[in-house]
Amino acid sequence: MPSQERGLRDWVKQRMKNTDPPPEAGAHAMRTLAVTSGKGGVGKSNLTLNLALALAQLGDTVTVLDADLGLANINILLGVNPPHTLLDVVDRRMTLQEIMVVGPGGIRIIPGASGVTQLASLSRTQIDRIVAGFGEIDGESQWLLIDTGAGLSPAVLSFVLAAEEVLVVTSPEPTALADAYGVVKAIWEEEAATRVRLVVNRARSLDQAEAAGQRLIDLARRALGLEVEWLGLIAEDENVPRAIMRQEPFLLAYPHCRAARDVGQLALRLKDPDHLPQAAGGMRQFLGRLRKGFYGMYLEARPRVGERRRGQ
Ligand SMILES: Nc1ncnc2c1ncn2[C@@H]1O[C@H](COP(=O)(O)OP(=O)(O)OP(=O)(O)O)[C@@H](O)[C@H]1O
Ligand SMILES: [Mg+2]
Repeated sequence: MPSQERGLRDWVKQRMKNTDPPPEAGAHAMRTLAVTSGKGGVGKSNLTLNLALALAQLGDTVTVLDADLGLANINILLGVNPPHTLLDVVDRRMTLQEIMVVGPGGIRIIPGASGVTQLASLSRTQIDRIVAGFGEIDGESQWLLIDTGAGLSPAVLSFVLAAEEVLVVTSPEPTALADAYGVVKAIWEEEAATRVRLVVNRARSLDQAEAAGQRLIDLARRALGLEVEWLGLIAEDENVPRAIMRQEPFLLAYPHCRAARDVGQLALRLKDPDHLPQAAGGMRQFLGRLRKGFYGMYLEARPRVGERRRGQ
């Protein structure tokens, strides 16, 4: 594991335990849900966007954060070219409200910045600007869905550990499953108070998806003692790439296709009382955790007193 990553983990571990603010009262706390994966290209961005639309169709208000800071994609899937991105929040002191764009179904999108690949190189002031920006949107929608990059970079891990709920997405392939297990293990190692659920995308049958999901759930239970919950599957569906080519979410382009029906089911399940987050820490908890994760990177990126940079 790279030293920066290990540093972040150790730091988060020391600082995160038992320091969350008390849960927010009642049912109005914003649900913060990160969509992540081990392997890239398994369908996170499409799931995030279409799930946001499905929740909106059920009457909920949704904000989508494109937190794939290396390769922001949500705007491309929607065929929009946002005038401003998170980079403007970092550099130009714009507010999140100012950069947000409203998409179909009234979903609000915080466009990711493809230039912000090195969160670790942000200054403390810049980190504070991002975190304060999220504070401003607290209470404005019922959901914050976060599309992360793949893998276990410190930036991805910061968002995943900050969110109260995590959807781990995998395809049924053994390689994707192995990488998904890597993500689950990383969450477990941080002892994060995060509810972890599994979605198997690109399934060719219910049997195939359930068998793949069960393998991962059993392994996490046996090896880590962690309960990963089965949320559901999305079928392999040719309408997904067809919709992408049209730069329209498949839920709108082909509302009756198999994948759209499956995502609708996932949205319904997430709203089921069994799937409500236990603590309802809301945005306040998310911000506290995010600040800690980002500061961990910030501290790691700076040479300590008396420590010389290599080559100096
Ligand atoms: N249910 C599906 N049926 C068919 N093809 C799919 C399905 N889901 C995703 N795909 C294909 O997988 C590709 C990758 O999807 P997507 O961009 O959502 O993945 P990602 O996990 O966000 O990728 P990255 O890790 O690069 O961010 C899509 O362009 C599409 O062609
Ligand atoms: Mg993506």
